[in-house]
Amino acid sequence: MTDDDEHDSHIYLDTAASTPVADEVIAEMLPYLKERYGNPSSIHKFGRETTRAINLARKRVAEMIGASSSREITFTSGGTEANNLALKGTAMHVKSKMPEKNMIITSSIEHDAVLEPCKDLEDGGFVTMHLPVTDEGFVRPSELKNVISDNNVALVSIMYANNEVGTIQPIKELVEIAHQAGALFHTDAVQAAGKLPLNVKNLGVDMMSLSSHKINGPKGVGALYIRSNLKILPIIHGGGQEWYLRSGTENVPGIVGFGKACELANKRVGQYQEHVAGLRNYLVERVLKEIPRSRLNGLRTERIANNAHFTFFGVNGEDLIIKLDENGIAASTGSACSVKKQKQSHVLKAMGFSYEEITGSLRLSLGMHNTKDEVDRAVDILSSVIKELRELSPFESKYVAEMG
Ligand SMILES: Cc1ncc(COP(=O)(O)O)c(C=O)c1O
Repeated sequence: MTDDDEHDSHIYLDTAASTPVADEVIAEMLPYLKERYGNPSSIHKFGRETTRAINLARKRVAEMIGASSSREITFTSGGTEANNLALKGTAMHVKSKMPEKNMIITSSIEHDAVLEPCKDLEDGGFVTMHLPVTDEGFVRPSELKNVISDNNVALVSIMYANNEVGTIQPIKELVEIAHQAGALFHTDAVQAAGKLPLNVKNLGVDMMSLSSHKINGPKGVGALYIRSNLKILPIIHGGGQEWYLRSGTENVPGIVGFGKACELANKRVGQYQEHVAGLRNYLVERVLKEIPRSRLNGLRTERIANNAHFTFFGVNGEDLIIKLDENGIAASTGSACSVKKQKQSHVLKAMGFSYEEITGSLRLSLGMHNTKDEVDRAVDILSSVIKELRELSPFESKYVAEMG
């Protein structure tokens, strides 16, 4: 079997890490990789045509999130940069105007793309606070209310949907609490986009981060929504592109693809929820019924359509991923980024999971490309791989005695 054959027959259940680029997206990008190569800053025909393409993409992104104008969209190199711009750009601006506001509140289950900039800001004199979550992975609005009473909070940053367990946070309520205390609100909506209808006005957020490759667009492009009249400072300086907020010649093909992906995601969000949540629910039912000592983490409701996150007691998640891969299934234990850092999931730790519960965890994340037949094959393989791994485990008899 060649690598390509193997690739085609693999079942891809890792859409929380990245998604296949839609054909329509590729078709719109191609001219900007070939004949439309002008620099958008140039005033000649070539420059004007790429500027027009960026403007259309900006409009499509704005429409997907219900922004009032394209002016509120700043393109970045992805979700990570959007989060960095939101956090650092806000912090630097607030520091220069209202130095007494030196606190940032976030949650303990954020992506590293929020947690790491927060650490950096701590070095710059900010105080950060990480709200706890329930054992189902939710931030309680009352927790925010309890800590935000002082008027010293510059920014609250809480993700819309979690990348590991898929929990959807009560953003609207959290925004109201933040605003009452005079703080700005940013949400990392990288995992929510395409899965939930997004509306920045209804939610009331001041900033929202997006990433293209989670919604069937190309990698290396994303955006930050910044409410009009909100001033933040740039973190990348240069030629003044993107409203002087993100200098550097624009990634035109990427931006064009991202815009198209947003248009598609916006049109099909209902269809996405129906198809993907339908398959996900079917998968969850089969797994819980057929695989002993399995548990679904997080709630069945208030979770994004594509996410199923399990603990299989007595199994090592890393071994499971490798065995699944050998058997033609692409899955994950959690965040793709944390795997590189070789650390245990801070999300599951924050949810109060024991070492064993964390070790035995598996994330399966589905997409529009998946079929019921694939889910059936995946559950059959998962079931036999788990059986095999448990039979090899020296702790199996202990587990059977304890849990049945
Ligand atoms: C919740 C969340 N935020 C941010 C990111 C980073 O986005 P990007 O890969 O576009 O930098 C990810 C990617 O996994 C994510 O899941």
